[in-house]
Amino acid sequence: MNVQTQPASHTADATTVEEGLAIQQAQSKFDSKAATDLAMQNTLLTPRFYTTDFDELDAIDVSPVRADWDKLMEQMRNDPNKGHFRKTEDWDAVDWENMDPELKAEALDFLISSCTAEFSGCVLYKEMKRRGTNEDIKELFSYMSRDEARHAGFINDALREAGVAVNLGFLTREKKYTYFRPKFIYYATYLSEKIGYARYITIYRHLEANPEHRFHPIFKWFREWCNDEFSHGEAFALLMRTDPKITQSFANRLWIRFFLTAVYSTMWVRDHARPKFHEALGVDIDWYDMEVFRKTSTIARQVFPIELDIDNPRFRSGCERMNRAAIAMDAAKARGGVGGLLGRIAAGANAAFAFANLYTIPVKKNEVPENVRLEPAF
Ligand SMILES: [Fe+2]
Ligand SMILES: [Fe+2]
Repeated sequence: MNVQTQPASHTADATTVEEGLAIQQAQSKFDSKAATDLAMQNTLLTPRFYTTDFDELDAIDVSPVRADWDKLMEQMRNDPNKGHFRKTEDWDAVDWENMDPELKAEALDFLISSCTAEFSGCVLYKEMKRRGTNEDIKELFSYMSRDEARHAGFINDALREAGVAVNLGFLTREKKYTYFRPKFIYYATYLSEKIGYARYITIYRHLEANPEHRFHPIFKWFREWCNDEFSHGEAFALLMRTDPKITQSFANRLWIRFFLTAVYSTMWVRDHARPKFHEALGVDIDWYDMEVFRKTSTIARQVFPIELDIDNPRFRSGCERMNRAAIAMDAAKARGGVGGLLGRIAAGANAAFAFANLYTIPVKKNEVPENVRLEPAF
């Protein structure tokens, strides 16, 4: 089969990001407004789109990590997951019609926000690929954008069965882009790729042991899926290792601490907003989030010189406080008027206090290993 001349008809077979997106664009007549509106939201808790200084990123020289880099690129070039992200006979029918309405709402919210997050990576990586002149950088970002386009396409397949889909073309044009300097992109994307891996593999292992809780077939695809995210995280670990200042300087250690705190506490709040979804999975949210933090922290020792002390009792209580502030904020927004405004100010102050409390928990120091590369081991 000659894949170069035969255009793919499914995103799973697309070998470039452009091809993957063109297929999704052609399906966009099915897109639904409500899902796109949800994906368009820009709150602290919804996935954002990012832009950066692409020239600075393009100027990176990967020579200091060349051996590891070439090995990782070869693995990504071989494309072990080509064709994987499509429905097969393993895809069980989902009875969306008769699903408990609250569960359905939370499951759709989960799928839409996952799709937006996948697509956010896709858009950022594709832009770097397009603007790059550095062959190493262009190659990396072409593989990562290819993968994310498939991931988003597959979630869109699942959503379409429920009668909804996210209009990715519209999102690309209309969603607000947040600017981050390249080093912040490294911290944020590295963490989101590794957390993505930890989340997917934790759910996959849990459902492997408890298949009766697998209420949607997409979870069966999570093992190969999380391996893609793991590799993407490895690439960012290597990029950070090209220059010790990126992770080791005093100011950057504080930034890493900031990003860890923000990413962990946001995940806690976001997951706790989906009680029915986790109940259906048979997952205790507190346990699940702590487990994901633990795995992510273990992995991140490959590159970060500090880690959050998640076993400090202040960590749990800080996350819980943050969650209460988020719930109060939602209630205040719904109330509106002067009472709502006062409620929002109070909730905002509470959230800021909770964040400061989390941020000031003493961190654990970590000596980063000589050898940066890891394999997915969970
Ligand atoms: Fe992805
Ligand atoms: Fe990824």
